Amino acid sequence: MAHTTHTDALFLEHTDIMPGTVLEGEGLLSRPDVIDRLRSLGTKCVVVTGRASSRANGALPDTLASLTAAGVEYRVFDAVEENPSRATVLSCAEEMRDFAPDFLLGVGGGSPIDCCKAVGMALLGRYPVDTPGSTAVPTIVAIPTTAGTGTEVTQYAIVSEPEGKASIAAKVFPVLSLIDATYQCAMPLGITISTAVDALTHSVESLLCVKSDEASEECAWEGVRLFGLCLPELMEARRQGGLTPTMKTVAYRKALCYCSSLGGLAIARTGTSLPHGLGYKLTELYGARHGESTGFFHPHYLRLCRDMNSSSQDRVDRILTLVLQGTGVSLHDGPDMLDSFTSMMQALLPTPPALSQQDIQAMVALVPPSKLTQHPEPVGSKVVSDLYTSLV
Ligand SMILES: [Fe+2]
Repeated sequence: MAHTTHTDALFLEHTDIMPGTVLEGEGLLSRPDVIDRLRSLGTKCVVVTGRASSRANGALPDTLASLTAAGVEYRVFDAVEENPSRATVLSCAEEMRDFAPDFLLGVGGGSPIDCCKAVGMALLGRYPVDTPGSTAVPTIVAIPTTAGTGTEVTQYAIVSEPEGKASIAAKVFPVLSLIDATYQCAMPLGITISTAVDALTHSVESLLCVKSDEASEECAWEGVRLFGLCLPELMEARRQGGLTPTMKTVAYRKALCYCSSLGGLAIARTGTSLPHGLGYKLTELYGARHGESTGFFHPHYLRLCRDMNSSSQDRVDRILTLVLQGTGVSLHDGPDMLDSFTSMMQALLPTPPALSQQDIQAMVALVPPSKLTQHPEPVGSKVVSDLYTSLV
């Protein structure tokens, strides 16, 4: 079973990346110190969440009880869809403008928390069009109930804009993130795998992008190691076709939460790279889950990075070793390990969307240049096309 010796202190060590406070633990939301922290943020709060899951897993009722205990008046917006649209952000902001909250609280997966950040910016007149000269940022609390996006520790908020998925312009770190893995114990297998793969992708892309540095690497290597510890259970669950008993334990879910937050801290420092740049289009155009969309590219992306230079080869080999550590596959250096990794990802993820050459050429033109320049070597349309073709 996956385990970790890390405590809350892990997060506090990285306050130079994430300026807010991250707390983790079972029953966190009813702790007096947490209620005191919520009370200190103001007297009025907008709670942003999805349509069902945060009620079903208990996170929303517990959140509202904490706000009540803190004496905070709240309004709930519970209509955030997966991959929230600009229209949803603006609808929530319009509904809540007269309420004039002191702070906003996002509870749920990455979508509600990202939406919450964007709504906060809209209420400040900084979204979708920024006010020149304004530096104001909203006060955001994040209560994640999935383990993947890392939004609880990043400045990003991904919104589906008319021209495609993009992060809001300003950096909106949560001032407070409250992580209780209990809410994730019954998360369905498909979402568990997709979000876990997203977390892995964040750490991997961070390690292999131009902005990688000592602080980001410290988080990213640990994130990859934790994913490797969690992977055998994901594989077993996929074989069985449902959650294993271990996956329903808080200890296992806590390891995935750490994996997510470490990947988040890594990309808060570096940003993401090619798999995210290309994967967004698979979500937008074909409805593939975000984590799966990025995970599809892993094998070819790692091959591309491994062939760049000896330094990258060392990194890729270390990533593969850490990911495959508990799977029982051969850990010989070189192609064997990458082949094993490829087989593992294919077993874990669903079949990628069926892409024609015409589809691929259309998507190649849409990949944001900002993602291409994150790669250490020049990336032309042939490289992007090859990555998409690797899915076929
Ligand atoms: Fe992601």
